Amino acid sequence: MARRIVIAGNWKMNKTVSEAVELAKAVVAKAGEAPASVDLVIAPTFVCLTEVAKVLAGSRVSLAAQDLHWEESGAFTGKISAAMLVSAGVKYVIIGHSEQRQFFGETDETVNKKVKQALKHGLLPIVCIGELLAEREAGQTDAINERQLKGAYAGVSADDAKKSVVAYEPVWAIGTGKVATTEQAQEAQAFIRKVLVDLYGSEVAEIIPIQYGGSMKPDNAQGLLAQKDIDGGLIGGAALKAEDFIGIAKGA
Ligand code: PGA
Repeated sequence: MARRIVIAGNWKMNKTVSEAVELAKAVVAKAGEAPASVDLVIAPTFVCLTEVAKVLAGSRVSLAAQDLHWEESGAFTGKISAAMLVSAGVKYVIIGHSEQRQFFGETDETVNKKVKQALKHGLLPIVCIGELLAEREAGQTDAINERQLKGAYAGVSADDAKKSVVAYEPVWAIGTGKVATTEQAQEAQAFIRKVLVDLYGSEVAEIIPIQYGGSMKPDNAQGLLAQKDIDGGLIGGAALKAEDFIGIAKGA
């Protein structure tokens, strides 16, 4: 079975409802320019999900959320449950983004709980991992990625793991304009694939798409996406312009 190519736009804390609707419409209008084999995904903020879902209905673009909470419901002020996301038309959910880890107390353990909760409700997790610059410089890149990956997938069955996507995002490349070289990205992602083989065997590991994320742009996407273990992208800044987002997908 061939791996899917998943190009996902992480809009982060950008766009009001009307702006999000406008951008979603522009993405849908251009979606036909991307190769048919590519899965296109956009992740607006929670408040925009239901309106953006209406724009995406009947199109090839799927809806993602940027996070979820691991409990079913109850006294968790400010949090959003898996069932709420499903009811809003969400298909994918980004989990463990480095900004969540850095600023909002996300740990390998909470990532794991969220991954399990997403899968329980039929949401497809996009599991983010990646090393800090200091960790890369200390030669810990592989160790960090292995720890985060094994933490995220602890207790997750092979059948469930097949539904997930991994996003390798070296933290030093996010929003900095400093993209990883194709060699750096491929090397890290080949290692990540090896850890998936350890966890689930090669058949499952071959199915799970591994995205690259961090300053991906139309002019560097093609080189990255040509690598054997780079099966898509998680795109921040460049996803805020439909032309750039689809331009990246065209590189696949
Ligand atoms: P960037 O963000 O493309 O703006 O570097 C990527 C991400 O954080 O997902």
